[in-house]
Amino acid sequence: EANEKESMYLVSEFAQKYFHNTLINSDEGKAIGYSYFKERGFTGETIRKFGLGYSPESWDAFTKEALGKGYRLEYLDKTGLTIVKEDKQFDRFKGRVMFPIHSMSGRVLGFGGRILTNDKKAAKYLNSPESDIYHKSKVLYGIYQAKQAIAKLDNCYLVEGYTDVIQFNQAGIENVVASSGTALTPDQIRLVNRLTKNITVLFDGDAAGLRASVRGVDLILEAGMNVKVCSFPDGEDPDSFAKKTPYEELIQYLDANAKDFIQFKASLLMREANNDPIKKAELIRDMVTSISKIPDRIKREIYIQECSRIMDISEQVLVDTLAQLVQKDV
Ligand code: CTP
Ligand code: MN
Ligand code: MN
Ligand code: MN
Ligand code: MN
Repeated sequence: EANEKESMYLVSEFAQKYFHNTLINSDEGKAIGYSYFKERGFTGETIRKFGLGYSPESWDAFTKEALGKGYRLEYLDKTGLTIVKEDKQFDRFKGRVMFPIHSMSGRVLGFGGRILTNDKKAAKYLNSPESDIYHKSKVLYGIYQAKQAIAKLDNCYLVEGYTDVIQFNQAGIENVVASSGTALTPDQIRLVNRLTKNITVLFDGDAAGLRASVRGVDLILEAGMNVKVCSFPDGEDPDSFAKKTPYEELIQYLDANAKDFIQFKASLLMREANNDPIKKAELIRDMVTSISKIPDRIKREIYIQECSRIMDISEQVLVDTLAQLVQKDV
């Protein structure tokens, strides 16, 4: 079993080098992949830092190369790099630009591959399948490149996608990781928690992005971490915003717009309640549920006071609701 996993790591590392080399040195890679990344604003340095690559537009160029180098089909299959159908083999990531996904210690676990055309029928991103070395729910994209900066700055920006992470790095902000489009899991939160107690969730400037990010946050509170949230102007994501904003201005924007999560959520819910008493009662419960996740009693108390003020409801009602919820928990 240990040997099997090691073989899977080794073939993944080979694949990363192959895709990167194809991007940098082959005519096709340069013309299609490299120019795509350039257009997105990534420099050569950024492309190297994240080990980005290109998988050629061929049914089996990668698989043939790997087999020729002595890597076994069994592990190409198990990592999902090759799709094996009866006696035929196909490159999973044919014709895509490649984003390798690293562990905290820098081993290649899997890949995201982005399509280059705007063909709506094909998935924009194709990811490595779950395997013995790749568990989507346990990795954070960019953690290997970000870990030093997260510890040093004592804060971690959390974004949605691969390109958000890379564009922030390109802009000079390195303490950033992505959940890769899914709700944050306890395993992912633990990875960050080892480095800092402070998370700032950055979400897309639309209702869907906002809803999605508010949902995942209770788990972060439960881990005893401090959470801020920051939204972007309508229609922007961290990638598009960072691409057109100079470093100083970007930092200023983040500092000015990052709001404490509890305060943010209380204000958001108040706007939603819109003076409807029944709705308001429901939302207060929702709010107190978030507060009940905070392990530290003093912090809970401070937030009760804050919410009482923001939601215009007595502290006693909030305290009673909290007591009910905490009781149900134990
Ligand atoms: N994602 C995925 N599969 C998809 C779509 C999205 O795995 N079919 C994941 C990717 O990790 C992606 C993230 O969800 O980075 C966020 O999705 P989205 O916002 O649609 O993509 P962007 O990261 O903005 O990608 P791009 O700017 O290249 O369009
Ligand atoms: Mn496993
Ligand atoms: Mn999105
Ligand atoms: Mn996006
Ligand atoms: Mn985007």
